[in-house]
Amino acid sequence: MASVRLATLKALHGSLSIFNPSQSLMPRTQTYTVRALSATMSPPSSAVVYEHHGPPDSVTRLIELPPVEIKQNDVCVKMLAAPINPSDINRIEGVYPVRPQVPAVGGYEGVGEVHSLGSAVRGLSPGDWVIPSPPSFGTWQTYIVKDQSVWHKIDKNTPMEYAATVTVNPLTALRMLEDFAGLKSGDSIVQNGATSMVGQCIIQIARAQGIRSINITRDRAGSDEAKEKLKKLGADEVFTESQLEVKNVKDFLANIPEPALGFNCVGGNAASLVLKFLRQGGTMVTYGGMSKKPITVSTSSFIFKDLSLRGFWLQKWMNSDKAEECRRMIDYLLGLVHEGKLTYEMELVPFNDFHTALDKALGKLGSQPKQVIKF
Ligand SMILES: NC(=O)c1ccc[n+]([C@@H]2O[C@H](COP(=O)([O-])OP(=O)(O)OC[C@H]3O[C@@H](n4cnc5c(N)ncnc54)[C@H](OP(=O)(O)O)[C@@H]3O)[C@@H](O)[C@H]2O)c1
Repeated sequence: MASVRLATLKALHGSLSIFNPSQSLMPRTQTYTVRALSATMSPPSSAVVYEHHGPPDSVTRLIELPPVEIKQNDVCVKMLAAPINPSDINRIEGVYPVRPQVPAVGGYEGVGEVHSLGSAVRGLSPGDWVIPSPPSFGTWQTYIVKDQSVWHKIDKNTPMEYAATVTVNPLTALRMLEDFAGLKSGDSIVQNGATSMVGQCIIQIARAQGIRSINITRDRAGSDEAKEKLKKLGADEVFTESQLEVKNVKDFLANIPEPALGFNCVGGNAASLVLKFLRQGGTMVTYGGMSKKPITVSTSSFIFKDLSLRGFWLQKWMNSDKAEECRRMIDYLLGLVHEGKLTYEMELVPFNDFHTALDKALGKLGSQPKQVIKF
């Protein structure tokens, strides 16, 4: 089966050179097929591919893809950086509702530099920095050739790791704060998974709008240090789940108003805690399920508090004709980064160390900052 799929990948990209990911990026064999002497071709690309779905650390490998033709509306981009997000992992596992057909190159967002252009491309020049916006599949490779409409030019003075990560998580934080409860200055929100990149963004974007945040983290090694970091970002209150094993969590609110809106990316007990903090008629928005545990809602939450449960999925939001709006918000978020108002923890990792970064992103080495591949 694997050899059939490898043949498919060869058919898509010409001949392949297979790398041993645990050793180096140097190809063991090199058998490029020259397609058309007159066509403008990209450089060959080193890529993280998976031929079938499964555990990401066993189904992904680094291979070399041959040059591809740059058609007249195409832009060839030399990738600079791309993150490993939980949804990238879920796509490789085959559990994400929308995913590329295998064999596929991993990754969904990132930043690159324009390398070369098709003859009909306008508004971009070699050296410009661009991001795929809305994001698109296959960012874990050194060169990408895609239609000019895919690329959004950004300020080259942006720190590379922020440009690479600005779409999936910061945009989710911004949309969720704006789309569900008509929050205004003086209001508050409650969230679990507060150490996640989305969580860190929620704290800061809320703070910038005068909205206070109650934050829940899981109990784990280093949780005191994590709590201090979140407070430095502007979190009003941070609790571990075990601290909230009390009769009435609202005793912890002190002078913070009861939140009308809560965010859940964990599930299980952490979701129940978000519900406990919500005020009468409040809404909990679920956008992730890191613990893989279901959400349990007490009967009284519905009858006596009339709570609402909603969901948010950025990919669906972007599909609904939001490309232009998406780009305006990206520019807004990058503006916050430039002003020092939006910051989050990341670790830049050389592409050669992809599998170490993947192990960290999979949680195999304990809690880690967001892993961002540097090509
Ligand atoms: N619906 C959407 O459109 C959308 C968009 C963006 C992101 N998301 C989702 O949002 C969530 C966070 O994404 P991210 O990229 O911001 O995360 P991230 O920066 O990669 O951080 C992972 C987070 O998950 C926590 N975590 C990991 N394993 C856990 C477990 N078993 N139980 C409880 N918590 C666990 C980590 O806590 P520690 O710090 O304690 O390790 C950390 O807070 C993910 O579920 C992602 O899929 C959804």
